[in-house]
Amino acid sequence: MISINRFISPPKAIRLLCSRYYCNTTTTTTATATKPNISSDNIFTNEKQYDGYRTLTIVKGKESNHESFLLQQLRDNVPNCGWNKSKSPFIIVGNLSPWTIKQFQLKKHGITNKDGDDNNSNNSNQDHKPFCGFAQQILPNSILVENKSLKQIVEYASEHIIASVKNCNYKKWRIHILSPQGYIRTRQGKLYSIEQDIVDKVSKTHPSLSKLFNHQATKNQKEIIPFEDQETLVQILFTSNHSKKASAYISVSTPPIIDYLSNIQNHIPAGQIIEFTSHVKENLLKLFVGDSDNKRNIHIDHIISSKQMDPLSITQEIEDSVQDHLIEKFIPSRSYLKLLEMEIRYPQFFKMLPNQLVADLGSSPGGWTLYSLSKGCKVVSIDKSPLDAKYFDFSDKKLHFLEQDAFEFNEPPHTIPFDWLIIDMKVPPKKTLELLEIWLKEKRCKHFVVNLKYLKSDFIQETNRFIQANIMPNCTFINAHCLDTSGDYELTLFGTNKHEIK
Ligand SMILES: C[S@@+](CC[C@H](N)C(=O)[O-])C[C@H]1O[C@@H](n2cnc3c(N)ncnc32)[C@H](O)[C@@H]1O
Repeated sequence: MISINRFISPPKAIRLLCSRYYCNTTTTTTATATKPNISSDNIFTNEKQYDGYRTLTIVKGKESNHESFLLQQLRDNVPNCGWNKSKSPFIIVGNLSPWTIKQFQLKKHGITNKDGDDNNSNNSNQDHKPFCGFAQQILPNSILVENKSLKQIVEYASEHIIASVKNCNYKKWRIHILSPQGYIRTRQGKLYSIEQDIVDKVSKTHPSLSKLFNHQATKNQKEIIPFEDQETLVQILFTSNHSKKASAYISVSTPPIIDYLSNIQNHIPAGQIIEFTSHVKENLLKLFVGDSDNKRNIHIDHIISSKQMDPLSITQEIEDSVQDHLIEKFIPSRSYLKLLEMEIRYPQFFKMLPNQLVADLGSSPGGWTLYSLSKGCKVVSIDKSPLDAKYFDFSDKKLHFLEQDAFEFNEPPHTIPFDWLIIDMKVPPKKTLELLEIWLKEKRCKHFVVNLKYLKSDFIQETNRFIQANIMPNCTFINAHCLDTSGDYELTLFGTNKHEIK
């Protein structure tokens, strides 16, 4: 049996990540905020409960060349923390100070601290939640275990989980196993049994924990199951997984941490949508074949006839094709997939509904316009170049295309608002953001999905500052993600306007 103290004063066997950046328990308990006097599982009433929060490890974005963007965003968005590149280009290691989490928790519950700052924030809590668009997944509160057998890793993980229960109540927990490159398919590898082994081990000391284990979310690889309220996420990131000499970061994110990091931490294992092509096929089958109740969209009928498809062979063709062929044959552009990915990743945010009004700026050849029309929306589609006529029936009253500069599209306020502003223009990110700011302030849109296309030379700090100073204050919700289906230097920013729109 390994004592949990070993996690606090690590022996050689287990090396806690240490650098000059990391807070220790002593420094974190010097916090000056008053103790909250309300009862909530999410508020730590005892400062010692912060002991568990020590380190933070980030899995890369899509590519190792995102490292510098990632570092910059972390430094800009997670206050008072330190970040270092690790040996692996996929991982950046840093600390998230317990103080930061504590401040967030106090603010969230509107508690005044000793310094007299009234934190009774009428502002959205989102203002205080960091976002970091180039992070694919984040592993807070990690410990590093090196060159151990899988059995020992199970023991360390179990100890870490049990320790977290002492810090914070939770109603459910799940385990995600991952590698720096992505998700490990545990069913096929030696790691298959590790989750069950951890559950068994934990149950011996803490029998009630086995009942709280979320089997469905842990084992289900096809369906993406969002975190539940008060759920804890255990992540094990294997940096080497030989059965006798494995190395891994073990991370336990309790509900308060998940809450604080909700804009960065992902409910999808390793932040990667596995088998994305099958999602694409499912979407296209629904559109092009549908079911008996489902009347086909007018534009889909148009595509079938303009591309001279044989309706009887469409199902087979979709099922048999690789992704590139599907894009070429069935949709106007690869960009269509970005909105499909948004729908899968952020189902609570990104849900276009029938008859909602969409402004699509930079719409040609028409992927995003077709996506919006396929959801039954009315679309004002604007580009300097025309839409690809093979994909659109222009007799449809729901489609209004304007061949013009999108920066000059300036509808008078009484004809708006739009439910969705979607922008995918090939212009410098700052220009897109300035346009977004105007749309938000002038209450032209309720929600937005905006693709920022960086050049390698673009200075991300400048756009980050612009987002923080000019976009975030106008939003009740904001988030960013470097989508799998986007280019290497693209960032998708999305959110909800704070200004009330009638
Ligand atoms: C990546 S493409 C957009 C792809 C599109 N979202 C889709 O789903 O197919 C970028 C588009 O931005 C358009 N664009 C760039 N600057 C523009 C401007 N000032 N006004 C309107 N469109 C612009 C280009 O003409 C180009 O068609």
